[in-house]
Amino acid sequence: MGPPWLRVLGVMVAVTAVACQQFGKIYGTFRVIPKHLEECPPEMRPARKLYTVNVSAMRDRSKADVWLYSANGTLHVPADDNYTVSGNVASWSQMGGWKDNAYMVEIPKMCSAMKALFPDLWRRVAAGSLEPERIDCPLMPGFYSVSNVATDFNIDFPPTFFYGKWRGTLTVSNTVSKERTACVRAFFDTVPKTGKGKDSPGKKPSDFTKLVLAKLNMSKFNSQGQIQ
Ligand SMILES: *[C@@H]1O[C@H](CO)[C@@H](O)[C@H](O)[C@H]1NC(C)=O
Ligand SMILES: *[C@@H]1O[C@H](CO)[C@@H](O)[C@H](O)[C@H]1NC(C)=O
Ligand SMILES: *[C@@H]1O[C@H](CO)[C@@H](O)[C@H](O)[C@H]1NC(C)=O
Ligand SMILES: *[C@@H]1O[C@H](CO)[C@@H](O)[C@H](O)[C@H]1NC(C)=O
Repeated sequence: MGPPWLRVLGVMVAVTAVACQQFGKIYGTFRVIPKHLEECPPEMRPARKLYTVNVSAMRDRSKADVWLYSANGTLHVPADDNYTVSGNVASWSQMGGWKDNAYMVEIPKMCSAMKALFPDLWRRVAAGSLEPERIDCPLMPGFYSVSNVATDFNIDFPPTFFYGKWRGTLTVSNTVSKERTACVRAFFDTVPKTGKGKDSPGKKPSDFTKLVLAKLNMSKFNSQGQIQ
């Protein structure tokens, strides 16, 4: 079986673990199994194309559940701190499909924030890039090519999470004009880290919003007053 080739219009996004308060779900230390990326539904897609990107993924032959992402893309405007990233995570309910708003987060100052939140992913993208020195804020308009970025990158938070199936919708919009400039959906599962028991020891999942804000240290990012 050949690897599935995914073709999406969207930014390269981190398949990120997020917390949600859902009473009754089993939680514990976990690992993320990335599933696939897809385009957002038509009504959520940006009106203007500020970038084009082709993304492909293949399974890592040596590590279970790890995918290697490659992408070629052209950026037509700078990807800088004039944008806000919004995440909305839907949880899969056995009863009735996807339930939106299990978790929501808004992160202003996109470029600096992504670099600060996902340093390991950022380094991997730079390392896999044709011109690593160009992977820095602001990302200037031009052509970018990135190969074999593995999805087992480290995320510092949260330590525990609910187990289940998730659908994250990430949108990027201009912080001032609110124009939506990118939208992509990522599907992923969270399973116990051990891979054995149903549960594993761990603290109750902490509030993801607080973790994000603490990690960003908003004192560095709130000069435009987006999050107070
Ligand atoms: C990107 O471009 C290179 C060279 O043109 C090609 O070999 C590679 O398959 C492309 N990757 C994607 C994800 O389109
Ligand atoms: C994406 O792939 C299409 C078809 O292979 C190609 O025409 C286009 O130039 C590619 N875009 C980028 C940014 O590499
Ligand atoms: C926002 O965009 C303007 C105009 O392109 C640019 O001069 C400025 O540096 C950008 N601000 C940030 C914080 O990226
Ligand atoms: C944020 O950073 C400042 C200086 O860099 C530091 O004094 C402060 O304790 C930090 N706040 C948090 C919540 O980490």
